[in-house]
Amino acid sequence: MSGASVQAVVAAGGAEVSRLMDRVEQRMAQLAASHGALLARHAGETITAGGKRLRPLLVCLAAGVPAPEREGLVRAAVAVELIHGATLVHDDVLDGASLRRGRPTVVAAAGRGLATATGDLLFSRAFAELAAGGSVQAVRVLSRASSELATGELMQRADAWRAGVGIERYLERCRLKTAVLFKAACELGALEGGDWVGALGEFGERIGVAFQILDDVLDVSGPPERTGKPRGADLLDGTVTLPLILARGSDQELAALDLRTVRTPELAAGVCERIAATGALTAAKQRALELVREAKLALPELGDRHRAALELVADGVVERYA
Ligand code: IPE
Ligand code: IPE
Ligand code: MG
Ligand code: MG
Repeated sequence: MSGASVQAVVAAGGAEVSRLMDRVEQRMAQLAASHGALLARHAGETITAGGKRLRPLLVCLAAGVPAPEREGLVRAAVAVELIHGATLVHDDVLDGASLRRGRPTVVAAAGRGLATATGDLLFSRAFAELAAGGSVQAVRVLSRASSELATGELMQRADAWRAGVGIERYLERCRLKTAVLFKAACELGALEGGDWVGALGEFGERIGVAFQILDDVLDVSGPPERTGKPRGADLLDGTVTLPLILARGSDQELAALDLRTVRTPELAAGVCERIAATGALTAAKQRALELVREAKLALPELGDRHRAALELVADGVVERYA
């Protein structure tokens, strides 16, 4: 989903969503300015470095259209985005990533220790933000998602360099490391809105898996100017994703490839070209489109504007190019 399509969704959600998202931004800016000196720079920059703000948008939209303009909703949306930021900082440590949102990652700029601490700080601020709203149920939703997220990230490291990993295991990794936070975003919004927690959670989980599939397609297709991340990064850190899994089925040389020999960005770019030549990117995108279709079918009986706004997000997940 591009920044432009997020804006289109905000517009479809109406003035309430737009005002809520402004409040989310203001609160995030406040938090960014309030960290202690040592971590201020990296935690603050992570919060203010942009990003599409897709998860807070989902929190707001899941609560209803028009959305209820309540403090609790803003807190929940901020908490989810802080967890997302924390996860990205830690993810870049685990993946050894150099570039994020077009800038050097915290681990590249400040090293492993400070990046780990920055992620930890963002995690704890997220829970402080949510707990201030006083809903035990909300805290439970977000803590479950955070644990599952960590499980997914660890599972991915355990699978590193295993070229023969299967589609089911890959999809389960996507569910854990990415989709559970989309699910939690929808559940938190629905809790504030007062209805459809289960059904909107299902919706969130499906578009979350589709989102990760698209991210994995973009890792192969690039270009970095659009994604803000280097092309072939997954290959270089040994992460086997759907495009490669599918391409291995039709390209013998890819099937025989030892991933540990793909050591430079140039070699990774060559493998990316080969994967693309098999048509695996289109096939992977097709899989994501199916999930989006299923997600829309999982939507409960909502008002027309509410449904339309959520459907727009679902479509945006597979139309995105960053
Ligand atoms: C990146 O998420 C991490 C994944 C789950 C693939 P986003 O693409 O939503 O990151 P930002 O916040 O917009 O940078
Ligand atoms: C998503 O996986 C990471 C998280 C859920 C934090 P990736 O490792 O593919 O995300 P990017 O590509 O680094 O943003
Ligand atoms: Mg990563
Ligand atoms: Mg990625």
